[in-house]
Amino acid sequence: MPLVTSAEMFKKAYEGGYAIGAFNVNNMETIQGIVEAAKEERSPLILQVSAGARKYANPLYLKKLVEAAVEDSGLPICLHLDHGDTFELCKDCIDKGFTSVMIDASAHSFEDNIKITKNVVEYAHDHGVVVEAELGKLAGIEDDVNVSAEDAAFTDPGQVEEFVARTNVDSLAIAIGTSHGAYKFKGEAKLRFDILEEVSRRVPGFPIVLHGASSVPQYLVEQINLYGGNMPGAKGVPEEMLRKAASMAVCKINIDSDLRLAVTATIRKYFSENPSHFDPRQYLGPARSAIKEIVRHKIINVLGCNNKI
Ligand code: G3H
Ligand code: 13P
Ligand code: ZN
Repeated sequence: MPLVTSAEMFKKAYEGGYAIGAFNVNNMETIQGIVEAAKEERSPLILQVSAGARKYANPLYLKKLVEAAVEDSGLPICLHLDHGDTFELCKDCIDKGFTSVMIDASAHSFEDNIKITKNVVEYAHDHGVVVEAELGKLAGIEDDVNVSAEDAAFTDPGQVEEFVARTNVDSLAIAIGTSHGAYKFKGEAKLRFDILEEVSRRVPGFPIVLHGASSVPQYLVEQINLYGGNMPGAKGVPEEMLRKAASMAVCKINIDSDLRLAVTATIRKYFSENPSHFDPRQYLGPARSAIKEIVRHKIINVLGCNNKI
């Protein structure tokens, strides 16, 4: 089976009250860990590549690794550009065979966001590729862009209908209180489910995307801190909130930081217990297994997308 778009996945997820996991990938072990879990749990999958991942790994290498994963697993896999910030970047990914792109023009005015998104949608649809856009602004760090909590803005549900109609976009990321990275909430975690409800009331059946959805498991933070790390106050989105979002209009849940935490916790522990080892396979192997286990947990307990193929 070739790479697929997310169109069919989202339709079924919306109707079934679950969400598809979109996991960020930067290297072979990450791709293998994610895909092994999805294969064993019979889950559809979105693998996403950020601009930073492209810079780090070279998009051609990532594309070939994902193609190998498709061939090896037989899974329906969608290859998605995460947070594309220009038409040119989206076009390059479309031309290289990605099946989905995100144009994140959320830093621009409403009118410019529409204009930029529409442009990408037209090119993408001509090439059989689907597009995600963003309305509202998440706090946190993506690549070199650091949006402070004060500059973050919840999505205005009143703008959604017009945005979707004028851009013809396929899915929409909204800001309801999540943020990127491992430090999401200072006090109690709070998500604006009222905004999500109002959005789905205004665009019924339309797939919504939740970014910044890592839950920052405390056992991983504790393991990192136990073995020489320093991450006090790291805190994520409680899993029950993500389950609730997945049962509503949210069809795609983006997870990156939790995988990074799993890798770092595993490798820190490994070196502490095996200070003389130096073969990367000895620590990248356990890191890959840790990714597999956390992705399996997400698929079954958070996303609800197991046994869907
Ligand atoms: O939303 C951002 C993702 O976690 C990707 O992170 O830009 O550091 O690759 P990155
Ligand atoms: P996290 O940092 O919460 O994993 O969010 C990832 C994300 O939204 C990627 O686009
Ligand atoms: Zn994101």
